[in-house]
Amino acid sequence: MILVTGATGTIGKTVVQLLEERGMPFRAMSRNPNGLPNPVRADFANPASLTEAVAGVDTVFLVTVPPTPSPAHDLALLEAASTAGVAKIVKLSAIGTGERFEGAVVGAAHLAAEQAIEESGLAWTILRPTSFSSNFLSFKELINAGEPIPDMLGPTRQAVVDPRDVSAVAVEALLDDAHDGQRYDLTGPELLTFADQATILERVLNRPVKTVEVAARPHLDAAGMPPEVITTITTGVGWARSGGAAYVSDQVSRILDRPARTFEQWATDHKPAFTVMR
Ligand SMILES: NC(=O)c1ccc[n+]([C@@H]2O[C@H](COP(=O)([O-])OP(=O)(O)OC[C@H]3O[C@@H](n4cnc5c(N)ncnc54)[C@H](OP(=O)(O)O)[C@@H]3O)[C@@H](O)[C@H]2O)c1
Repeated sequence: MILVTGATGTIGKTVVQLLEERGMPFRAMSRNPNGLPNPVRADFANPASLTEAVAGVDTVFLVTVPPTPSPAHDLALLEAASTAGVAKIVKLSAIGTGERFEGAVVGAAHLAAEQAIEESGLAWTILRPTSFSSNFLSFKELINAGEPIPDMLGPTRQAVVDPRDVSAVAVEALLDDAHDGQRYDLTGPELLTFADQATILERVLNRPVKTVEVAARPHLDAAGMPPEVITTITTGVGWARSGGAAYVSDQVSRILDRPARTFEQWATDHKPAFTVMR
């Protein structure tokens, strides 16, 4: 039995679909799982609900959106899983976790959670994807209104990954113990700047997608984000701008035995999301 947390989210919802297609037994966890197959309602902030969610489970896919900068949600799940006799955890982390930028640790919450899982005695696999291609969906209103989209990365190149590939790797890690004890950096197949991504989307949509460079901290401040969240993001952005994420890993193609999807493939498949309503 596999518990998929974050089952309504970008990565978890495709993990659920793939497990269903493969006929594997799973429970789909969310705070509001209505509409999910095999739903279980639980909240990382409610230990009793986690105890129910992990009962009889062998393997957990762990997706948290950490209450930055704390790993509390991962640790709560780990505690419930250890007590219930879960054998393995596959954790969704992020690229650059544990690297340093200007004295700060990149992905500090993920790092603390990774370390706790690795020291737990349970089997584990850690997935560290780079930025998701799907992050462009957060700009769809601006794009559809013909407005420029904010670019915090400038000349930074990174190999953005298709979230469907991250989900597919997660399923392999959940089902095959050959991935136990492995930490995988998951990237797409090509290095792109943010402006390169906009140019590709522009070509796919056949209408302008303009970018405007912004400084990360004032931009996030103006968006009303809490200071500790801003620090987490600006540390990651600073690390990426210093070239930390400018590499292509072959893990996706090696594990899935096919090429990683390009940003152009993602954009083509998500063209309907950028349809302008008139
Ligand atoms: N976006 C990127 O570019 C990127 C890149 C690398 C790594 N990551 C990592 O990916 C992770 C996020 O994955 P995602 O994008 O698939 O998530 P997402 O789309 O943001 O969805 C978050 C999921 O977490 C669930 N959730 C949130 N709070 C919860 C709580 N208190 N109790 C139970 N469930 C809760 C939500 O379910 P309900 O709201 O339905 O309860 C939802 O299913 C983060 O750890 C992030 O660091 C992201």
